[in-house]
Amino acid sequence: MNANAEPASGTPRVVTSRSQLQEALAGASQPSAVVMTMGGLHSGHGALMELGRALVGPQGHLTATIFVNPLQFGANEDLAKYPRTFDDDLAICAANSVDLVFAPTPDVMYPNGDPEVTVDPGELGGQYEGVARPTHFSGVLTVVMKLLQLTHPTYAIFGEKDYQQLTLIRQMVRDLDIPVEIVAGPTVREASGLARSTRNNYLSEAARDTALRIPSAIAAGQSVSERGADAVVNVARSILEAPADVEVDVQYVVVTDPLMGPAPAAGEGRLIITAIVDGTRLLDNAQVFIGPPEPGAADADATSGVDTTE
Ligand code: PAF
Repeated sequence: MNANAEPASGTPRVVTSRSQLQEALAGASQPSAVVMTMGGLHSGHGALMELGRALVGPQGHLTATIFVNPLQFGANEDLAKYPRTFDDDLAICAANSVDLVFAPTPDVMYPNGDPEVTVDPGELGGQYEGVARPTHFSGVLTVVMKLLQLTHPTYAIFGEKDYQQLTLIRQMVRDLDIPVEIVAGPTVREASGLARSTRNNYLSEAARDTALRIPSAIAAGQSVSERGADAVVNVARSILEAPADVEVDVQYVVVTDPLMGPAPAAGEGRLIITAIVDGTRLLDNAQVFIGPPEPGAADADATSGVDTTE
């Protein structure tokens, strides 16, 4: 690991300890932004960094954190095989004008072992992703809270791809009065339409082909949204559940309101899908407008579909 490296021009400074982080941030300009990651970076993370830089401006300060957080992985999950690609990650940070990379080890983040006190994600934390992964969101919120305390940014940027995570982080910031502005970055997709994810690296060619049903299901659901949330779910499910060459285990297909409450009878909602394709858990979601289009809503609808540009 290229830890504690002195920055060359255009290369972010890398720090791994709390004291180095505090020293680096003490002299940092304002406003500041943080993009939290678990490494395995791709263009989706790059887009979040680009958004961070746009928010703070050329003189502001942009930190990226790289930490594979053990607390958010269940006992039978992919913690050990989660991609560790530090040198490539650093290149993506450099290409997106990150000033500082904080890459702690688990001992630095959790010096006393697993924390006794953690963040309770509330009712939503036990739904959808939380059904199969009951400790996941407590682990996510706990590390996000710690990283916010350690970096105290003006803005923290999270991707819409992990929509339940984004919703819960917003809820935590609201409920616990954390002084930060949470900013959402749109999902970045491969040219095929597949949402960018570090876990796409696990997919074989056949699994990748089948995974394309997920963006297709979203587009098909959006196309029938005038008929209501049930129609959206049914159409999306029919695409996901058709016979396939590899195993597809549909975990849930749901329309919610934008805060992940019950689906609206009419107006803005979120179509959220998780399916395990050939052993790899894939998440995707998109805005969907339920019911007859309101006057002037045509433009919004046109930009909310599955856009395959990166
Ligand atoms: O989205 C992720 O990569 C992680 O859940 C996060 C927010 C960095 C916390 O470990």
